[in-house]
Parts: sequence; structure tokens; C-alpha cells
Amino acid sequence: MIRANPNYSKIQANYLFAEIAARVKACQAEKPSARLIRLGIGDVTQPLPAACVEALERASAEMGAAETFRGYGPDYGYAFLREAIAKNDFETRGCDISPDEIFVSDGAKCDTGNFQEMFDSSARIAVPDPVYPVYVDSNVMAGRTGAAAKSGRYEGIVYLECNEENGFVPAPPKTPADVAYLCFPNNPTGAVASREQLAAWVEWARTNDALILFDAAYEAFIREEGVPHSIYEIPGAKEVAVEFRSFSKTAGFTGTRCGYCVVPAQCRAFDSAGARIPLQTLWKRRQSTKFNGVAYPVQRAAEAALSAEGRAQCKALVDGYLANAAIVASRLERHGLKCTGAKNSPYVWFDCGMDSWEFFDKVLRNAEVVVTPGVGFGSNGAGFIRISAFNSRENVEEAMDRIEKILG
Ligand SMILES: Cc1ncc(COP(=O)(O)O)c(C=O)c1O
Repeated sequence: MIRANPNYSKIQANYLFAEIAARVKACQAEKPSARLIRLGIGDVTQPLPAACVEALERASAEMGAAETFRGYGPDYGYAFLREAIAKNDFETRGCDISPDEIFVSDGAKCDTGNFQEMFDSSARIAVPDPVYPVYVDSNVMAGRTGAAAKSGRYEGIVYLECNEENGFVPAPPKTPADVAYLCFPNNPTGAVASREQLAAWVEWARTNDALILFDAAYEAFIREEGVPHSIYEIPGAKEVAVEFRSFSKTAGFTGTRCGYCVVPAQCRAFDSAGARIPLQTLWKRRQSTKFNGVAYPVQRAAEAALSAEGRAQCKALVDGYLANAAIVASRLERHGLKCTGAKNSPYVWFDCGMDSWEFFDKVLRNAEVVVTPGVGFGSNGAGFIRISAFNSRENVEEAMDRIEKILG
């Protein structure tokens, strides 16, 4: 008899965005003429930068000509892209990351979800609360947790409390843990970690033979001087941290699909006898067994996003979203609502003064705007709302006009 993986049944049924979609559908059925504005899901809305479109077209033409056609690409990504990433994303920030330590993928969701395969099933996982759900659910599926309690928290996971007191930046846990997932700029809170805060995490990982999985999918939104863009800006991080990056929010690639992870040569786990195991060897084995690379035209488009022209176009895209986020935050602050994020992030996070779903429904029904209830990201998100700045300026302004009316 084929038995299903029992761990899947532990996963909370009402996945956040499915529940939002159901409520939005019900509202649309009741009010067919409503012009909904979506500031919920973190998906980009603006077209690809021109440099990327040109590269896609050129590379597609190459694929259509016998002399330039390419079949399977290298498992870890084409050298042209790995070299462009090492130079533009790391060398410019003083981080010593070589192209061989970069592994191109179809996005940070897959990489952050897959990386837990490198760990023993007994590995103790620490995650922030609130959190991007992929880190938790991928470990639940792998059987690393018990059942979920009423609060939504799983038995066996170490939760890192994020709240207004710590500015939504957790300190390393006192409870033992082997792996910590960190994400800065953060989804959903928009918080960023300072150099000192990240240095404390690196110190924790080094002292405890632990590992940091650092998700920097929103790195391009950092504008404040002094805020680290990469965990590798912290001395000693290469041994104890893997970093995930994505072209999704940086270059509008949510539908084009390209990201990468950095697994430095010296980054290690341990075997049962305490001997060091290079994680890069394991990741290479995993990728060459289960992954066949990203489409050649997409890798050329990602390379173009890193050219001088592409970087300027991507910066303009991100600047547009950041300006939207600033509008959202300033409009909410007029009503005494204190916001986190917006400055170095496309997300604005605030305490709405009532139950998250109650506020969500109020805004959906009365302002016809879709936001995200913070409680969907973890129990510490209860009473909070995330507004995403991924939309046109006109829509963001209109949405905020409507929300301000109901805030009174
Ligand atoms: C924190 C975080 N990491 C990763 C991702 C996924 O990125 P990608 O589109 O590269 O899979 C997202 C997408 O919303 C995210 O918010």
C-alpha cells in the first residue's frame, strides 16, 4: 500500500494566501463592480527592465539558430552569470565570494525550501516569528517537527520572538538550535539588521557549531548607509552561513525565475562523530541530482540585470516601489499608526489595533483594498498588517485615499 507522507497532514490547512484569495473571491461575488486594489501578495507589477528584455530576445534568437543553439547548461549556472554575480553583488561590497561558491537556481523559494535536505533529520531549527512560511513548512514536510499547536507553532521548532521591543530583529536564542533562518530586509516586517546584530548571530553560530541560512531576497531595497547587504560583510560568516538571493524583487523576475545561493567552500556541517562536512559538496551533489539548471535566455537576462545599464534600470524599478512604500507609511503615520519597514523594504508593517483578519475584512469590504493579515506569518503577527508597495503609484495613492477614509 502506498502511504502518503504523514508530515504533510501536519501543515496548517488555511495557507495564508489561499485564505486571502477565498475572502477576496467572496467579496467580488457580492460586489461585482468593485475595483479592488491589491497590496497583499508580494508580487511585482512593473515590466522587466529593457536591458533584460533585450537579453532575453537575443538569447532566444541564439536558441533558434543551429550555430548558437545550447542544450543542457552547467548544473550550477553558466560561468558568465556566476562571474557577474560575484563581481557585482559581492566584490563591490568587499565580500570575498568566488564564482565557484555561487549556485544559480530558479529562485529563492526553491533554494530556501530545499536547503534543509542537507541536514540530519534531528537538526533543531530556529525561525523568527513572524516568518516567511517556506522555512517552516519545508521542515515540517521533512518530518523535523511535531504537530502544530493552536497558536500555529510546531512542536520541536525554536521560535525567535520578533516584536516592537526588539524592532523585529531577534537576538540569538538561549535554547539550543542547530540552524537559524534569518531574513533581512525582512518579509513580512520590513525590518533590517545592523552590522552588530548580524555579528552577534555569526558569533552564535561559530560558538555553537550552528549554521545561519540568510535570506537576502530584498537586499536591493536597502538604501540606508551602514546596513549590511550580505551576511558575508561580517567577518567569520563564510564558515557558518549560506546566503540566498533572488532576481524576483530586484529585477522584476517573479515570472521569469532566477535566483542563486552562496555556499562558501569553508561552510560546514558535522557528521555524527563531529568531523566537518563541507556543505558545498552536499549542495553540489543535491543540485546535480535533482536540478537541471535555469533556461539559458533567463540566465542571460539575469546577467543583463547586472550590467551597468541593467543596474540603473533595476535601481529605478526598486526606487519606484520604495517611493510607494514611503507613501503608504506616511499616510498611516498621519493616523498615529507606527510603521516598521518602508525605508529599506517594499513592505510596511503596523499594529492595526484590532484582530488582523478583522482589519483585513474591514479594508477589503469598505476600501476594496487587499492587504495581508500579519497573523498569517506567525502568532507574533497577531494584530499586525503587512501592506506591500508592489503596485503602480496611482493604485497605491488611490488605495491609501480609500484606507484613510476608513481610518477616519
Ligand atoms: C523572504 C523571501 N524569500 C524568498 C522569496 C521567493 O523568491 P523567489 O521568487 O526568488 O522564489 C520571497 C518571495 O516573496 C520572499 O519573500
